[in-house]
Amino acid sequence: MSREYRALLEATLGHLRELKARGVRHVQVSPEVIETLSRPLAIRRETPSTSATAPPATQVSPEPPDRSRSAPIGIIATSAPALTEADRPPSLLPANEAVTPSPVSPGMEPGDKAARLAALRTRALACVKCAHLAASRRNVVFGVGNPNARLMFVGEAPGMDEDFQGEPFVGKAGELLTRIIQTMGLSRETVYIANILKCRPDTPGQATGNRKPTPQEMRTCVPFLHEQIAIIQPDAIVALGGTALEGLLGTGGISRLRGKWQTYRGIPLMPTFHPAFLLHQESLANKRLVWEDMLQVMERLGLPISEKQRAYFQRPG
Ligand code: URA
Ligand code: URA
Repeated sequence: MSREYRALLEATLGHLRELKARGVRHVQVSPEVIETLSRPLAIRRETPSTSATAPPATQVSPEPPDRSRSAPIGIIATSAPALTEADRPPSLLPANEAVTPSPVSPGMEPGDKAARLAALRTRALACVKCAHLAASRRNVVFGVGNPNARLMFVGEAPGMDEDFQGEPFVGKAGELLTRIIQTMGLSRETVYIANILKCRPDTPGQATGNRKPTPQEMRTCVPFLHEQIAIIQPDAIVALGGTALEGLLGTGGISRLRGKWQTYRGIPLMPTFHPAFLLHQESLANKRLVWEDMLQVMERLGLPISEKQRAYFQRPG
């Protein structure tokens, strides 16, 4: 490796470490920079003594490189066959985002759901289709839970807490959702939780606050959710709030439809109110309605329901 190249690499790494320490998990890299970084290595690989021992290039992203747009660091390797896993500094791969198996074709045997989700997750983490969201996000919030879950909860989009932590429903609304799940006798680990949008809707000029996803953002991102559901194949889905209902079924009217079973691609779907709505309304009546919806879900899944669970929120007497 030439001295100039090493200096460039070390400067790049130093910069990336600094960003990482500030919580940034993805950066945009122009095709020109990738080109420059790859060139000396390409020369080196032509030397027989090193190319013979070099491990095969690892494709981090299952998608072919698209040189017309910038790429997050996670997919640098796809741009240049010269970069190998050994060449790539380990620090460029976040500990929990290790290289995943290559993608699985849609028609394959129902196999390892975890591996298929991991491959899909790698694609989502590299997505820059909504350039404004890719530029403002700290983390892509893919989803969390059991790849073999029988029950899936679908929300709207990450908020600030979720964007920071890279996990859905970890803020105030998330705490309420977690309590609802636990009251059902389940846990965040046994179900699967995801959102219509994987990136936090940006609020330019504002440090806090949320906004609803635009129809365009929803159309762009919802295919990831469709794929998550196709892989997990849950026995039931809970759509949390109007945006989840709209994103999955293309229909509004959460207040009219909540509590009434719908069907998403053959899977029973229960629309209910969003936990953030419950927090803002602070009305016991709405909480009771959501709990009644969850009892319907438990019945449908054949989960045991105790007297105590049935009696939650029931009017005394
Ligand atoms: N609200 C949502 O819809 N999703 C989250 O992940 C958090 C809050
Ligand atoms: N409107 C929504 O969009 N969601 C709710 O949960 C309730 C009203």
